[in-house]
Amino acid sequence: MKTYTDQYDLSQQQPELFWDAQAAHLAWFKTPQRVLTKDEHGIDRWFADGELNTCYLALDHHVGQGHGDRVAIYYDSPVTQQKCAITYHELLDDTARFAGVLSDLGVEKGDTVVLYMPMIPEAVVAMLAVARLGAIHSVVFGGFAPHELAVRIDDAKPKVVVSASCGIEVDKIIPYKPLLDEALEQSHHVPNHCVVVQRPQCAATLQPQRDIDWHQAVKQAKPVPCTAVNGTDPLYILYTSGTTGKPKGVQRDHGGHAVALNYAMRAVYDMAPGEVFWAASDIGWVVGHSFIVYGPLIAGCSTVLYEGKPIRTPDASAFWRVCAEYRVKVLFAAPTAFRAIKKEDPHATGMAHYDLSALAYVFVAGERLDPATYEWLKDRTQKPVIDHWWQTETGWPVCANLMGLEAKPTKPGSSTLPVPGYAVTILDEAGQPVANGQQGAIALKLPLPPGCLATLWQDHERFVRGYLNTYPGYYLTGDGGYVDNDGYVFIMGRIDDVINVAGHRLSTGEMEEIVAANPNVAECAVIGIPDDLKGQKPLGLVVLKDGVDASEASLTAEIVAQIRHDIGAVACFHDAMVVQRLPKTRSGKILRALLRQMAAGEAYKIPSTIDDPGCLNELEQAMRERGITPTAPCS
Ligand code: COA
Ligand code: AMP
Repeated sequence: MKTYTDQYDLSQQQPELFWDAQAAHLAWFKTPQRVLTKDEHGIDRWFADGELNTCYLALDHHVGQGHGDRVAIYYDSPVTQQKCAITYHELLDDTARFAGVLSDLGVEKGDTVVLYMPMIPEAVVAMLAVARLGAIHSVVFGGFAPHELAVRIDDAKPKVVVSASCGIEVDKIIPYKPLLDEALEQSHHVPNHCVVVQRPQCAATLQPQRDIDWHQAVKQAKPVPCTAVNGTDPLYILYTSGTTGKPKGVQRDHGGHAVALNYAMRAVYDMAPGEVFWAASDIGWVVGHSFIVYGPLIAGCSTVLYEGKPIRTPDASAFWRVCAEYRVKVLFAAPTAFRAIKKEDPHATGMAHYDLSALAYVFVAGERLDPATYEWLKDRTQKPVIDHWWQTETGWPVCANLMGLEAKPTKPGSSTLPVPGYAVTILDEAGQPVANGQQGAIALKLPLPPGCLATLWQDHERFVRGYLNTYPGYYLTGDGGYVDNDGYVFIMGRIDDVINVAGHRLSTGEMEEIVAANPNVAECAVIGIPDDLKGQKPLGLVVLKDGVDASEASLTAEIVAQIRHDIGAVACFHDAMVVQRLPKTRSGKILRALLRQMAAGEAYKIPSTIDDPGCLNELEQAMRERGITPTAPCS
């Protein structure tokens, strides 16, 4: 079955047959007999009675097949001047031994382990070791502040936390251990132990009894084998931003995840065992989970673990160097990374020094690929540039140009066609499918294919409320867009209060909760406004309480510091504007979508429910004074 249409149609007409055939590529301990079933909540679940272990698929299986000497990880760290190649054999040894450490600390199948780690090999080892035990990991992005970590620790309730003494950001060392200690002071849940990788750049103080030195512990540990789990047992929880301050714990199954990623590696990315894949992301995000760690390793590829940035480590040619040095076949990064490179090296002169002959494709995702960046990247690299769309919840691409199946002509602004398994539908407000070319909410018809979330950790009700209830029979993606007459999908952006800053998904709702807690603030809205480099950046609009005469500058400084303290530097919240009033409906709801459109320079309509249209003129004026060019309403 070679063509896209053949595979897509089969995936829609006979999903069980289609996915059963994909599952047959994996080394199950017990082959699933029942491909698609309903769980006790009536949710579709894949491969429930199959038995497997994801770490086994990623490591033991390849070593068992005689590929132990193949490189599993190329670790490249310009920030520490370190590089090494780790073979599958070595990675298996390290992982089995670290699983022994965790096991000695009481971690068993079904337990949770939180990881708060920089981009070092031990982070990958820890993820795989947790999976090896049938336990559940939850990786927290290292750029998040203690409060965010504490919230996740309280939700995931880990038996053990694994961390490192520090992370390294371009030219500064960020001691992680004090951040972890602060998080543990804030959290109600108390893990039994913390295992800490001591890095030479900054030693951490370990708390006797509770904290354990990684390297000392592994010396004494015995390797342990893989624990069999069911296809529907959870492999990991990954928290992602929703519309409130409470992040959503996306829960991913072992079975469907392995099947989907193995399929994606071949069909979407055209990867074969032994080839080199580089997702220039972070293990704290879904891209890191799926395509730094699990996808490439399950597929028997080599993955690049890069501890650096696209620029400043040391310059804008870093990506090209890494691609050349490891003969990377697929480079996958967020558009913001290429905007950063383009800004520093517009003519891509740095590329000329490197042999990019092994590089077959450049994939981008994580945020909208703007046409200027697309054209620049295509012209400079002379490689196919593939925009593909997906999200933490789906875990793997929803729309793509499937390079391993059948390359279709690209259309700038489109992430091409739905990947087999996904039924992408554009719905109007009443939940009715719209005509081609018409914009609406992007929904995915149920059942979702393997690999997508089946619930939210310990909060099934929120899963159903947030994703399934709006349009019965569909999963709501939170993105808006349209499908053209050729079936190409165009993503136009979020229709909720989630924003995307430098490829990092953040909740404006969460920022609003922090701004609103400032004693001088009567009410506020935080919106995402366009940013040339980062795609979007947050802007706070603040109404002061009566009688408060704080200056805008001092108030902004307070809010900026608070958001940095509570969420982290990664929020990139640098600006707040004091306004007289915020536009609201007559029932008192702030018209955030209108504010967003106005600040983004998009055409907007004044809703008939607006309470006081006059306040829009004031806002326009205030935005103009800030250098933001707002739009006027369209008639
Ligand atoms: N640990 C600690 N701090 C971190 C961090 C981490 N893992 N990641 C980012 N930060 C900090 C940065 O040091 C910076 O702090 P500062 O305000 O004190 O300077 C802040 O968070 C903002 O970081 P960032 O948004 O990354 O901005 P930048 O100016 O350092 O770099 C880019 C800009 C575009 C080069 C960078 O954002 C980038 O490479 N983005 C790609 C993101 C990506 O891969 N996303 C994954 C989705 S596919
Ligand atoms: P995350 O869950 O962090 O991966 O973020 C997912 C969100 O990023 C999606 O819901 C989209 O809003 C956005 N996104 C991801 N990929 C793309 C893309 N190719 N084009 C436009 N937006 C994207």
